[in-house]
Amino acid sequence: MGMGNIKLLLLAFFLIVIVANGCWEEERNALLELQANIMSSNGELLVDWEGYNANGFIDCCFWESVKCSLETGRVIKLSLGSERFGSGDDWRFNASLFLPFKSLQFLLLSNRNIIGWTKNEGFSKLSQLPNLIEVDLQFNPIHPKVLLSSLCSISSLEVLKLGADADTSFSIPTTYNSRMSKKCGGLTNLRQLWFEGYGISDINTLFALGGGANSGLRNLEKLNLNYNNFNSTIFSSLKVFPSLKQLELVDNKINGNIKMNDIIALSNLKHLDLRGNNIERFVTTKGSLSNKFCGPSSAQFN
Ligand SMILES: *[C@@H]1O[C@H](CO)[C@@H](O)[C@H](O)[C@H]1NC(C)=O
Ligand SMILES: *[C@@H]1O[C@H](CO)[C@@H](O)[C@H](O)[C@H]1NC(C)=O
Repeated sequence: MGMGNIKLLLLAFFLIVIVANGCWEEERNALLELQANIMSSNGELLVDWEGYNANGFIDCCFWESVKCSLETGRVIKLSLGSERFGSGDDWRFNASLFLPFKSLQFLLLSNRNIIGWTKNEGFSKLSQLPNLIEVDLQFNPIHPKVLLSSLCSISSLEVLKLGADADTSFSIPTTYNSRMSKKCGGLTNLRQLWFEGYGISDINTLFALGGGANSGLRNLEKLNLNYNNFNSTIFSSLKVFPSLKQLELVDNKINGNIKMNDIIALSNLKHLDLRGNNIERFVTTKGSLSNKFCGPSSAQFN
């Protein structure tokens, strides 16, 4: 047996030892407490951790919807989103229930009917989890203004997914409220932002996340604004996101002639999706009309 094989065997052995040790007891208890809380306030959780535990299947790293780090055995991902819109009764979120998961990186809670939070237990408290990089809260009936001001203090975030179902309608202030963003330093690590279906028409709404138009969100690479009300002026206002590579604008109100220069000015843009709009032509610098698109390498229109 060569040295390489021995090393591999040793590695496999250590992995087995770690996995056999299973999850951390404090995290197992925290999962059980979380389930009890969700059951009592949401009435429905699509996992049965208590059942696993009661049947002696105590390694929570193998429980449904839980993912642990292979190295540390700590919980790094909780996939608690539902497939079904508005699953369960109204759920008041309690951030403290998630704080025992000190290595948590991914927290997925879409379609959970979260309507708000219990006193002092909002999403901003999740900023105590230093490794949290992705939060998915799509299709929960919380006003986006409330969401943005609570999430904007989680400075470790790299991916944030928000969105409203077509049936939900919120009235959203179109003007940027500078007082709101002063509370937050800005999500300067944010790479991907989903903000679908809220019917917004002004990019200023998003500045609540970034501490203003010029400071935050400068590292944003992917922006998903599908199912909103943006018109063709959107392209010139996106200059504040210089790193933008991927832009989704399906089903907005981008109509008529589009100035090609505003799109070309987004110099890092590689992918643009404009399906479900009513674009007639792309207009080039000289004012001539062109049917030829000369922007990003990958683009989809109608
Ligand atoms: C929130 O969760 C924490 C931790 O389990 C608990 O101590 C606290 O009582 C809960 N708060 C409310 C208002 O339920
Ligand atoms: C396009 O959107 C901008 C920003 O919301 C707005 O100020 C402008 O009036 C809109 N233009 C048209 C033609 O609707």
